[in-house]
Amino acid sequence: MQPFVIAPSILSADFARLGEDVDRVLAAGADFVHFDVMDNHYVPNLTIGPMVCSALRKYGVTAPIDVHLMVSPVDRIIGDFIDAGASYITFHPEASAHVDRSLQLIRDGGCKAGLVFNPASSLEVLKYVLDKVDMVLLMSVNPGFGGQKFIPGTLEKLREARALIDASGRDIRLEVDGGVNVQNIRAIAEAGADTFVAGSAIFNTPDYSQVIAQMRDELAQ
Ligand code: DX5
Ligand code: ZN
Repeated sequence: MQPFVIAPSILSADFARLGEDVDRVLAAGADFVHFDVMDNHYVPNLTIGPMVCSALRKYGVTAPIDVHLMVSPVDRIIGDFIDAGASYITFHPEASAHVDRSLQLIRDGGCKAGLVFNPASSLEVLKYVLDKVDMVLLMSVNPGFGGQKFIPGTLEKLREARALIDASGRDIRLEVDGGVNVQNIRAIAEAGADTFVAGSAIFNTPDYSQVIAQMRDELAQ
């Protein structure tokens, strides 16, 4: 298993002061910047695109940017995010007509590739592409909004995904996204996750470093 990574979702950050807020959360101990891209088509919300990703790079953000695409189709926007300085690009298999090709596009562009599974989506497709993914992301809420409640059935699915990854012997991150907080992060890690997205649990508090430190304490138990 890879070292634990905390990836704050900037969906809950202050968009009017995004650069400063990202600096603050990284200084508070975050590892990745989780970047939620919504198109008001694949999900019922509209957020930020490649211009904002490249603006963060120009502003001086050097941490890995973990781009979570909730858009359909995905291929053209993948190219734009490669150019914008993304580190990881993940997408939902339902949003691409050719999953294998989209994964290949991401890797050909020098980024790490991943697939995202909605709460009711089967992991079946994974077994055909395990050699082409660097990350598996399990949604623990229905995508579209921050601040939702963690769906408990995700724990069992995490165990399944962990077993598939371990059996492959590959270096693949297992990320969880939605409703992650200090209270449940340990159980989520015990189920097999190594990468934790948290939006409202971090950004809706005044002291980011305190929450991140509490999360790390839970993970160290
Ligand atoms: C939901 C997004 C998440 C979301 C997480 O569609 O993919 O990244 O921002 O927010 P919280 O941690 O508040 O559930
Ligand atoms: Zn996300």
